[in-house]
Amino acid sequence: MKYTILLLLLLLDATHTNDFVLSDSKELIIGYNYPCEVHSLETQDGYILTLYRIPRKGPPIILVHGIGDSSDSWLVLGPQHSLAFLLADSGFDVWLFNARGNKYSKKHVKRLSKTEYWRFTFEEMGTKDLPSSIDYILNTTKENVLTYVGYSQGSTIFLVMCSKRPEYNSKIKHSILLAPVAWIHNAKFPFMDSIVNGLKPWTYLIDQLSLYEIFSSNPLRNSYHADVCRQSSPRKMLCGLEYYLSYGLRNLSHISPDKLSVVASHIPAGVSSFTLLHFVQNYVTKRFQAFDYEITSYWRSNKQYLRQLPEYNVSSVSVPITIFASATDWFSDVEDVNRLRRSLGTVANYIFISEVVEFTHIEFVYGTRARVLVNDPLIKILQSLFDIKR
Ligand SMILES: *[C@@H]1O[C@H](CO)[C@@H](O)[C@H](O)[C@H]1NC(C)=O
Ligand SMILES: *[C@@H]1O[C@H](CO)[C@@H](O)[C@H](O)[C@H]1NC(C)=O
Ligand SMILES: *[C@@H]1O[C@H](CO)[C@@H](O)[C@H](O)[C@H]1NC(C)=O
Repeated sequence: MKYTILLLLLLLDATHTNDFVLSDSKELIIGYNYPCEVHSLETQDGYILTLYRIPRKGPPIILVHGIGDSSDSWLVLGPQHSLAFLLADSGFDVWLFNARGNKYSKKHVKRLSKTEYWRFTFEEMGTKDLPSSIDYILNTTKENVLTYVGYSQGSTIFLVMCSKRPEYNSKIKHSILLAPVAWIHNAKFPFMDSIVNGLKPWTYLIDQLSLYEIFSSNPLRNSYHADVCRQSSPRKMLCGLEYYLSYGLRNLSHISPDKLSVVASHIPAGVSSFTLLHFVQNYVTKRFQAFDYEITSYWRSNKQYLRQLPEYNVSSVSVPITIFASATDWFSDVEDVNRLRRSLGTVANYIFISEVVEFTHIEFVYGTRARVLVNDPLIKILQSLFDIKR
């Protein structure tokens, strides 16, 4: 009992000194004095997802997070910077998506084994999680269409949905893709060569050791992470090194210094190994194609281990699209983005952030400059589409 109280005090102290370090999306929304609703829904294959909402009378808009992330990504920088709050202030009815497998969407209606539960990639997020979430939002708000904003993997799964379930095109008025990822052969992922060379043994290991979930959200590790990235931390260099190695971010002050530890504590939020492997397979095959589940059996034989499977047919996308991309983004490389633009027939706006700005992948949602370079122009575009007053 004594220790429980001590632990509680320590935790309280921690949340006091690093505000919002371990808060969930609801606590973040309420903590910033916005109203919050929590909705839970079931996909057609039984996964239970959580949607957070900042309810407003205006048009519904869904914000879709990147890989290994969650709805927190649209909130952690607070009302002055984060898109969810800025959109709510502009009158939008803001809904925050959480894909299967992340910390808010870990349940299933059945008692599945880990192997069964984690057998999905971003394809299922696009063909099942998004459609169910969109239907849920439209039914709840009694609207016919909503607006879509997807960051990184959030853009990937939008393209998958509109390709594989084209009937959903008509439910989306406009889609904004931030740092989009589809073809990724030009991505400059650090250590990519060793990952690719090790793909076969890696996949085998993942299979044998049942490592179906990686980068899970772990409060202890996340608070350690937050601690290293705190402004006064003597180990801050480690934090800088990590952001550089992961994203090419050279100037750590481009992630708001007083928020660095909050950001660090919220990622990663859980990802399926197959999702990560799916991106790696697409990197290797140079195609935007389905995941090859046969890869594990190829290990034992000597067959060529990556086949060409049908590509996602992005020419089925009929939603008008706005793309934001940056010349110095390692993951959403300009050449790959241009390939996507050529394949899509409906790009209405293309906002390109030039090389001199050195705007990296992570900064689209977590950067100090995201408000000026992304969020304000994005809201301007939406306001011109909707004619809503603040
Ligand atoms: C739609 O919403 C109503 C409540 O507004 C609910 O009773 C109904 O089950 C919902 N339908 C679907 C398909 O989600
Ligand atoms: C890092 O960014 C900050 C804020 O934009 C700027 O003031 C500073 O000069 C930059 N530092 C370097 C080394 O570029
Ligand atoms: C891709 O979609 C377009 C538009 O819906 C269609 O005309 C075309 O036949 C499709 N291509 C394939 C390979 O399915």
